Amino acid sequence: MVVAINHLRKNRIKYLLNFLVTLILVISAIPIVSFADSIIDKGRYIFQLANCYACHTDVENDGLPLAGGRAMETQFGTFYPPNITVDKETGIGHWTEKQFAQAVRKGLSPDGSHYYPTFPYSAYKNISDSDIKALKAYIFSLKPLKQKNKSHDLKWYISRLTLPVWKTLNTDQSSDKLNTDRGAYLVDTLGHCNECHTPRNSIGLLQMDLKFSGNEDLAAPDISSDSLKDWNKEELIDLFSDGALPDGDYVSDHMAEVVEFSTSKWKPDDLKAVIRYLRTAKKNVK
Ligand code: HEC
Ligand code: HEC
Repeated sequence: MVVAINHLRKNRIKYLLNFLVTLILVISAIPIVSFADSIIDKGRYIFQLANCYACHTDVENDGLPLAGGRAMETQFGTFYPPNITVDKETGIGHWTEKQFAQAVRKGLSPDGSHYYPTFPYSAYKNISDSDIKALKAYIFSLKPLKQKNKSHDLKWYISRLTLPVWKTLNTDQSSDKLNTDRGAYLVDTLGHCNECHTPRNSIGLLQMDLKFSGNEDLAAPDISSDSLKDWNKEELIDLFSDGALPDGDYVSDHMAEVVEFSTSKWKPDDLKAVIRYLRTAKKNVK
């Protein structure tokens, strides 16, 4: 009888222990799994807001996603953005988080050389630490794709060696003054809208005193608050959601890509914050 009761107790204790161990495993697994998922989801959204895809994918020729090779024509020649997949040989698979952050925010490569500002790090410099972390986690969750980088084809007088000087002159970006407004962060930092919609001088520096007054070389129109006065809120929402213009036409060219890969992904609150911010962006005010 005693033996039988002991046996029953032991079984119960065993059952209870098993149950507790299972419970602990389940509880501890939930936050780990959802944390990993949520940082990747967050990173995917940052990646969309910053439109990393369009430049690093040869969309027109059905190129491999993020494997580079897209021709970017500029006044200084043709740039071919590199492979930013995690392929260890031809991409950035061996990069640390610090190296990644330094490239995106400071335009500095792991070997200490400077990137050309066609990589819009001048805008990205205020991306927050947690957004950079998430962005890297997302890019590093994607498939590695092997594709060798193409060399840029630039005018003879363009050299990487002049970039440190250029960088010291490039101090006039509005994003220097960290603006805590969400709309400003989406437009000036992540969305790098100035890169196309603000004119540049002969050495490629943005003329921030003419913020958003358009860039003729890129056929990018004036989007300062003055020129957007004629647009009502619904028209702006339509434009950023699917590229529809008030006259029934659709945006073409560079802006079509910005809409497809970036602004159409804005969450409703972010879309509102952007519109609010654009309404306040005045020309000729520093
Ligand atoms: C407007 C086009 C453009 C956009 C948008 C862009 N890049 Fe780039 N990126 C470039 C170009 C051009 C280079 C090469 C610069 C050079 O060779 O000096 C580059 C270089 C890089 C490099 C260096 C890779 C290496 O092998 O050295 C990384 C990393 C990178 N980009 C990541 C990103 C991420 C992440 C985003 C989004 C947050 C992004 N890029 C958005 C154009 C772009
Ligand atoms: C790669 C260059 C590029 C970037 C980056 C870019 N745009 Fe544009 N944008 C253009 C071009 C080019 C047009 C004209 C397209 C057309 O008329 O078909 C345009 C058109 C527009 C228009 C319509 C203006 C009008 O009068 O028709 C608005 C508004 C606009 N962009 C806002 C933005 C905002 C906000 C951002 C940042 C999230 C942004 N753009 C980023 C190139 C760019």
